[in-house]
Amino acid sequence: MHVLIIGGTGNISRAIVQVLLRDGHKVTIYNRGQRVDGQPSDVEVLLGDRRDRAAFEALLQTRSFDVAIDMIAFTADDAASTLRAVPNVGQLIQTSTVMTYGPPFTALYQGTDAPLNGRHDGGYGAGKVAADELLLGQSASGVPVTIVKPSFTFGPGHPLFRQVDWSMRWLDRLQKGKPIIEAAEGLNYFQFLPSADAAEAYVALCGLSAAHGKVVHVVNPHATTWHEWHGIAAQVLGVPLETVSVPWDVLVAADAKRYSALTTCLGHNQVFSADSLLALVPDWQPRVPLLQAVTETIEWLQRHNQIEDCESDPLEDRIIAAMRQIKATFA
Ligand SMILES: NC(=O)c1ccc[n+]([C@@H]2O[C@H](COP(=O)([O-])OP(=O)(O)OC[C@H]3O[C@@H](n4cnc5c(N)ncnc54)[C@H](OP(=O)(O)O)[C@@H]3O)[C@@H](O)[C@H]2O)c1
Repeated sequence: MHVLIIGGTGNISRAIVQVLLRDGHKVTIYNRGQRVDGQPSDVEVLLGDRRDRAAFEALLQTRSFDVAIDMIAFTADDAASTLRAVPNVGQLIQTSTVMTYGPPFTALYQGTDAPLNGRHDGGYGAGKVAADELLLGQSASGVPVTIVKPSFTFGPGHPLFRQVDWSMRWLDRLQKGKPIIEAAEGLNYFQFLPSADAAEAYVALCGLSAAHGKVVHVVNPHATTWHEWHGIAAQVLGVPLETVSVPWDVLVAADAKRYSALTTCLGHNQVFSADSLLALVPDWQPRVPLLQAVTETIEWLQRHNQIEDCESDPLEDRIIAAMRQIKATFA
């Protein structure tokens, strides 16, 4: 097959390229050429910015592909532009997200028929819902579409998030033997998926006619708490994990912007059924141990100086000191 990836050099898509090449497919990628890691030489690279819609569409309209994988359509307008760019493609795989389901997320291990509560957030989830709906409408009459909804997917080249905010400083705190904050003991569940495993699922869906018109969860069937996740990172760094539990609302009171990640995404249980994928690709399962994938990701972050110095951020120390003071008061 000749597969186009709109993207191709990021977290998930770089891994997809590797699996496609391993399996003998021809690969073309379209991106701005801004990523630091080089490309395999046997990939065709088309450079451009998809936000320049006219140039993006004109360039791809001159080409023909068996499958197009769109990694970076975030709105209905993006999705419509992709359809104009590849009107005759044999299958379009749109990368959506489990954030289409919330917050609020209504139950654990729900399937693709879960309520699309993410449509109300006005941002990321809502944009993806609108893109998916436009494409699924198209799938019935024109281009065959498969909607992929990954859970939290990570690997070399991607930040290693923690439970309470989007910063990488927590890894420096661990390295320096400092405690880290967890909200409500870090006990909410996520499905952490190595990008190499996500890539195997994407490639298995390429050219699969049974996947046309389907929504497919590409999620780790095994859910992990954030506390366990923080523990894996500590293990990789060779340090003990020391945590201090802080109520969610205290964190938001301390810095509403920074800890908004809890309310908008990270503080919720996000656990979805993998049945939609296993029905199409029964032998798929995550094969990369989380410990290995976290090791590779931290090594990449260290190599590229992506872990900020925690000393530049006194707030976490202040919150921890205040929590300890409260506990000491009532001890
Ligand atoms: N990672 C997760 O946990 C997760 C979970 C659910 C869903 N998703 C979805 O997965 C997709 C992203 O996956 P990813 O983070 O692994 O990234 P990716 O697709 O692997 O990387 C982004 C790619 O798009 C290119 N790109 C970015 N902006 C561009 C533009 N304006 N024009 C052309 N190319 C552009 C980047 O290269 P240049 O910067 O060089 O252009 C890069 O190749 C998103 O749709 C996201 O919603 C991710």
